[in-house]
Amino acid sequence: DPEVSFTFNVTLAYGAPSCFARPIVLVNGMFEPAVYIHQGDVLKITLVNNLPASYPGVSDGISIHYHGLHMGGPAAWFDGASYISLCPITAGSTYTYQFKVNDPPGTYLWHDHAAGFKGDGLQGPLIVRPRRAAPMPPAGLPPGAPAPSVPDLWQYDDEHIVFLSDWYHATMNSLMFRLNMPFDAAKVTNDSGSWNWIGNPQALLINGRGFYGDCPLFAPAGANPTPPVCAPTSFTVPPGRSAQQPWASNNNPGCTHERLVVQPGKRYRLRIIGASTLVYMTLCFEGHNVTLLAADAMPVAPVSTRCVDVNSGQRLDVLLTADQPPANYWIAVAPQYRVGSPAGYAVLSYEDPSTNATVTPAFPTTPAPQIAAMPPWSQEANEQVVMAPELLVPSNGSALAMYRREGQPTLAPPKSADKLVVVNLTQPLLENGQLRWALGNVAMPKTPPCSPLMNQLRRDPAYLTMAAVPASTVNGTGAGPNVGIGSAGPSRSTPLYLSGVSPAPLYPSVGLNIVQLEGGQVVDVILNNRPANENNGDYRPNGATRNATEQHPFHLHGHRFWVLGRGTGSFSPELHGASLNTANPPLRDTVTVAASGWAYLRFRADNPGVWPFHCHILPHIFMGQQATSRQPLSPEKMYNFAPYTKSWLRAKWGLSGWEL
Ligand code: C2O
Repeated sequence: DPEVSFTFNVTLAYGAPSCFARPIVLVNGMFEPAVYIHQGDVLKITLVNNLPASYPGVSDGISIHYHGLHMGGPAAWFDGASYISLCPITAGSTYTYQFKVNDPPGTYLWHDHAAGFKGDGLQGPLIVRPRRAAPMPPAGLPPGAPAPSVPDLWQYDDEHIVFLSDWYHATMNSLMFRLNMPFDAAKVTNDSGSWNWIGNPQALLINGRGFYGDCPLFAPAGANPTPPVCAPTSFTVPPGRSAQQPWASNNNPGCTHERLVVQPGKRYRLRIIGASTLVYMTLCFEGHNVTLLAADAMPVAPVSTRCVDVNSGQRLDVLLTADQPPANYWIAVAPQYRVGSPAGYAVLSYEDPSTNATVTPAFPTTPAPQIAAMPPWSQEANEQVVMAPELLVPSNGSALAMYRREGQPTLAPPKSADKLVVVNLTQPLLENGQLRWALGNVAMPKTPPCSPLMNQLRRDPAYLTMAAVPASTVNGTGAGPNVGIGSAGPSRSTPLYLSGVSPAPLYPSVGLNIVQLEGGQVVDVILNNRPANENNGDYRPNGATRNATEQHPFHLHGHRFWVLGRGTGSFSPELHGASLNTANPPLRDTVTVAASGWAYLRFRADNPGVWPFHCHILPHIFMGQQATSRQPLSPEKMYNFAPYTKSWLRAKWGLSGWEL
C-alpha cells in the first residue's frame, strides 16, 4: 500500500484570521491546512508538539482525530480521542499515527481531540480521493446506452473546499477553563470564580479568513443599513512568536475574505466542512443554487437549494455550476439559534478563462445576503421546540435521503435491531456545584491522570465485565425503550447507570458512560434532548430550573449510523414509530438532535475498540457530554492488517494479557 507521510509541527504563533490579532496554533506554519490522501493509502502523521510549555492550556496536550474515518482493525489505537484511545501528546513530545484508510472517498476533517486547541486552529480538511489504482470512468457512453437526460452530477471540472469555523478572540482553553468551576450565581456575572459560559464567537471564518464584527470588507454603495467597516489593524508580533503565515506580516495582518474562483460554465464540487466549536451554521450562495451530492461523505439524493445547514462535525458535498453572469457573488455563513453571533462572508469570483483575470470590481456590488435566523434556543418559554432542519430547502422542506450511485453497494439499514439504547441529553448541576452536560445524568469529563480506556480494556479483564448494559432484543422499530442511559422518561423509573457504580446513584454524577456491545450487533440509539429540569436530582439552587434545551450535534467515532428519524419532543413508539425511515435513510456520522427534540439512529457494531459518542460542541464535550461504546477486541481482526503485527502492537503498547 502506498504510504503517505506528514510531519505535523505544531507551533504557537500570532495572527489575525478575523482581522483581530491573537495567539493562534499553526501546523508547519499553516493555519488549518488540508490533508489529501487516497483510499487505500497508509496515512502516517507524526505529530510534534512544539507548543511552549508555559502556554495556558498546554498541559492538557494535543491529539489528532480523523473525523469520519472508520479506523478499523488496529487503526482503533490511532483514533486520537485523548483519554480514550491514547493519552494527550504533551508539549515537547511526539507521536506517530499510522493506519490504512479504507473509507469511501469523500470529505472529512481532522482536528485536535484533547483540549481546546481545535478552537485555536488545530484542525483542517481531510480529503479522501478515490483509490490510486481506480480505473478512470470510461470516456463517453458505452455503445448503445441511452444518452442521460442530465449530466452525471458527480462529474465536475474542479473543486473547492469551504471550511467553516467559528472564531473567538480569546484562546479556547482560556475560555473553557471556567467551565470546570462550580456554578456560583453571585460570581457568574462579575466574571470571577464561577462557572461561566464561553459566549458567542467573534467571527465566522471561511477557509480560515474573515472579519470580526459582522463587517464585509467593503460596504457596497448604497447598502442599507450600512455595514460597519472593520479596518485591518497592524499589530506587533510578540517576541518569540512568528507571524501567521502565509498571508500576514507585522505591517499587514492581511485579513481578507476568502475568494473562490470559478470560470463561466464550469461545474465545481464544493466540499463544505462544519468545523465550528459551538455554532450551528447556515451557508448561502448569492445568485446560485447548489445541488447536494453527499452528506458526511455518503451520497444523498440530489436536492437543489440556495442554502445548506452544516453543524459542527458535519460535511456536505454540493455541486455548483458557474452559470450566472460573470461577476462577484457573496457566499454568506450565519449562525443559528445564537442571538448576537456574527456572520461570515466569502466571495464567489468569476474569472475570464482567456486572461485568468477575475471580474472587477473585486467585491459584489450587492449588499451581503441576510440569512434568516432560526429562533434562539434560550427563551422564557418552557419546552420551546426548535427543529433543526439539517438542510434548509425553503420550498419543499425535504429531508435528506440516501442515494445509491450506479455500481455501488446498497447501504440500506438492517430491518431490525438487537439492542436499544435510550439516552436523555441533560444539563445537570452536580452536588459540588459544577454544571455539566451529560447523557442521562452522568457526565464524562476528563479526569487526570490519563489511563486510556483502550488500554484498560486490554489490561484488565475485570474491566470488561464492569458497567455492561444488558442486551435487549428489539424487533422492528416500534419497541419501547426498555434499556437506557439514565431514565427513559421524566420519571426516572428505571435508571441505568453506566459507570459500574452500584447501586445506581439517584443524583447527577460523573462517570464513564460505557455501553458494552457485542461484535456484529445492530444497535438502535434514541437520543431525547430533555431540559435539565426533568432530571430528578438537579442540584440547582433554590429550586431554580433550566427551562430550555439546545441543539446538540452528536458524533459517533468508528462507525456510520443511519438516521432513521428526527423530531420534536421525546421519541415515542406510538407517536413516531411509523414515521421512521428504514428504506433509504441517510448514513451519517454526525446528527443534529434538535432542542427539545429526538433523533433515532441505527448502526452496526462492527468495529472492535472503544469509541466515543459525544456532542461535537467543544465546550459540551469538555463539560462531559460524552459516552463510549465498547466492542470486544477480536485478535483476528486486530492482527490481520499489514503492516501491523502482534509483536509490533505489543512492543508499542506494552500490553500483557493480550490474548482474549
Ligand atoms: Cu470530530 Cu470525537 O470528534
